[in-house]
Amino acid sequence: MGEVIAIASQKGGVGKTTTAVNLSAALALLGKKTLLIDMDPQGGVAASFGLSRYDVHGGVLEIFTEDMPIEQTIHSTEIDDLYLIPCNIWSDEEEKRRLIGSAAESKLRAVLRPVREGFDFIIIDCPPALGNLTYNALIAADSIIVPIQCEYYALKALGRFLKLTRTIKEEYNPALRYRGFLLTMVDMRNNLTKRVIEKVKYTLKGMVFETMIPRNVRLAEVPYYGRPVMLFDRNSKGAKSYMRLAEEVLYGSEVIRQKEASSVEAVS
Ligand SMILES: Nc1ncnc2c1ncn2[C@@H]1O[C@H](COP(=O)(O)OP(=O)(O)O)[C@@H](O)[C@H]1O
Ligand SMILES: [Mg+2]
Repeated sequence: MGEVIAIASQKGGVGKTTTAVNLSAALALLGKKTLLIDMDPQGGVAASFGLSRYDVHGGVLEIFTEDMPIEQTIHSTEIDDLYLIPCNIWSDEEEKRRLIGSAAESKLRAVLRPVREGFDFIIIDCPPALGNLTYNALIAADSIIVPIQCEYYALKALGRFLKLTRTIKEEYNPALRYRGFLLTMVDMRNNLTKRVIEKVKYTLKGMVFETMIPRNVRLAEVPYYGRPVMLFDRNSKGAKSYMRLAEEVLYGSEVIRQKEASSVEAVS
């Protein structure tokens, strides 16, 4: 049965959608059948795959507000093993926003049950708030990846999020665990960066991914091209870092270190 991973943080602009899109693509390119679910009505996932209103035939909102069967909301993508369920509230659909806010907190977990068998990974992109949609994602998830933007106040907002996770674990989902905290938009030319990394690693001992995502303009261009970064510049730092993250998710950091060490030996 597939592992459900929520990409979550109540802070906006930290790289949740970028991580959800490109990690999902990387897992699929490594042969893992992956379903990417957007839980953010801003619809960043559809945009990242170049889908417009006319391409979308139902998504999370229709599952939540019209009881559309989940199978009908799964869209295929350019990548064979990658599927997605979008989430878009178009400007004339305000009613849906109200309805979705009042949906049951464990709705997503219930609707995912029959499709979990068919996937190796289900990745959920969460909105930048601790409301009903993030609750739904964390109750449905087996694990959480928390992107942390590499900036001086990176850890400031984390307290509330960790508290919410603890509550959800206690009340609904005792098996929920952290997959890891992911440093994003890392810029080694910035003098502060090393100190921030040290502080994050010290505070979140052993829970930070070894892979860090650099600040890379190719990642910001994903919605412009409407494709995950590996499909338009697979040699970019952004593409390589998300491929490495996918390997770290699959095999753990130790195996990756060994693999990289042996490829360095092979070159030298
Ligand atoms: N590693 C990165 N390098 C450069 N730009 C990035 C990177 N990660 C995200 N961005 C850009 O930063 C903005 C916020 O990222 P996004 O993934 O949408 O964050 P969130 O989903 O947490 O709000 C977007 O414009 C995105 O393209
Ligand atoms: Mg987002």
